[in-house]
Amino acid sequence: MAEKKKRDHFGSKIGIIAAAVGSAVGLGNIYRFPCMAGENGGGAFLIVYIGIVLALGLPMMVSEFVIGRRSQRNPVGAFKTLASGAKGWPLIGYMGVLCGFLILTFYTTVAGWTIESVYKSIINYYQGKNLAEIEQGFNDSINMTFRPLLWQAVFIFISAFVIVKGIEKGIEKYSKILMPTLTVILIILCVKSLMLPGAFEGMKFLFKPDFSKIDGHVLISALGQVFFSMSLGMGALITYGSYISKKDNLVTTSLMVGLSDTFVAILAGIIIFPAAFSFGIRPEAGPSLAFNTLPLIFNQMKGGYFFCLIFFILLVIAAWTSALSLFEVIVSYLTEELKLSRRKATIYSSVGAFIISILAAMSLHNDSSLTIFGFTVFDGLDKITSMVLMTLGGLFTVIFLGWKVKKQDFEDEFTNGGIVNMRLKKIFYFIIKYLAPVAIAVIMVSQFII
Ligand code: PHE
Repeated sequence: MAEKKKRDHFGSKIGIIAAAVGSAVGLGNIYRFPCMAGENGGGAFLIVYIGIVLALGLPMMVSEFVIGRRSQRNPVGAFKTLASGAKGWPLIGYMGVLCGFLILTFYTTVAGWTIESVYKSIINYYQGKNLAEIEQGFNDSINMTFRPLLWQAVFIFISAFVIVKGIEKGIEKYSKILMPTLTVILIILCVKSLMLPGAFEGMKFLFKPDFSKIDGHVLISALGQVFFSMSLGMGALITYGSYISKKDNLVTTSLMVGLSDTFVAILAGIIIFPAAFSFGIRPEAGPSLAFNTLPLIFNQMKGGYFFCLIFFILLVIAAWTSALSLFEVIVSYLTEELKLSRRKATIYSSVGAFIISILAAMSLHNDSSLTIFGFTVFDGLDKITSMVLMTLGGLFTVIFLGWKVKKQDFEDEFTNGGIVNMRLKKIFYFIIKYLAPVAIAVIMVSQFII
């Protein structure tokens, strides 16, 4: 009991939403989603993506919140508690902690680039440069030994600074300031992008589906992207769920978080594609879209200095609040299961993530031979986490909730003890027990067949 009392919680409903949206909305929405959509046929990808969010993403988000709030524990402890002693299940939790750690290692690399880009914007570096020069500059920066590592360290430091303060005074307090700022910046940039001549072509690319583009690869990429973007399948939302007050409605919370996340991804597409098309840049440009193309475009706009700066600040904020939830998975595990102090847990996880992130960063050097499964360490970590660990984690999580956890436990959390969501209960339970496991398994297998 004494241990339970000490557990920190979110102080308000707004706080939970801000923190959970903060976790979900990240580089995944603003940088990875437009890349994915660009590479997988635009509108067709968007439709598949939205379908998966509604049919699978939302029920899975609810599942994780249910598991977290019921158990009041970190991901490993949660599976231990709810499996009532049955062996094996806690492995899902361990896989989540590992996955969180691995995501952090390449996430901090990209987050480092965003800080570097803020710096470049401030010193007006982009002014007067053409695309080749900007790209060259970006590649040169990535190829430097210490500079990317310095920015990574700065990013890890600002994340650790918030994490060490705890849930209400750390994650919640900062998310409540950062997320509204992010929203304002997004809206300003969308309006600006839509006012560009030729914006319509970009909108057409994003919204007009070409169904011939949909194949197994698009499906698994979209599924992986949904998991990544909604922070599913690795325990982040189990952890946040464990800090949600018993009075809050888990279904409406999930709806708000899931829909905001999707909305932000679409807004990011609305910022990037019209701008790209308006300047004749191909949508398949990949990572280059956010880091090179946009500065070039801003460069040629009136007020470009300002727009470029706020765009990269937007990326830093998005990455920062997501990293908080990644850290919290590891820190909650270390403090609750291994009984470390919060301070020590923060230091160990930061230093550990920094060390592996060095490999991720170095693997992008032109002459690097750091590869796994034929990919650079950086790409390999991205693919292993989103396409394997998170999807497997998600699959086992719904199987666990549908088949192992007592139905009464699910119902109590889902309906707050019989008060809310009574009608939805059956539909969600059906999805969690049957539809979601089958659908995830089919998509995972289909990538090898189609
Ligand atoms: N959802 C985050 C994003 O879109 C990434 C993330 C994944 C964060 C998993 C936490 C857990 O960038």
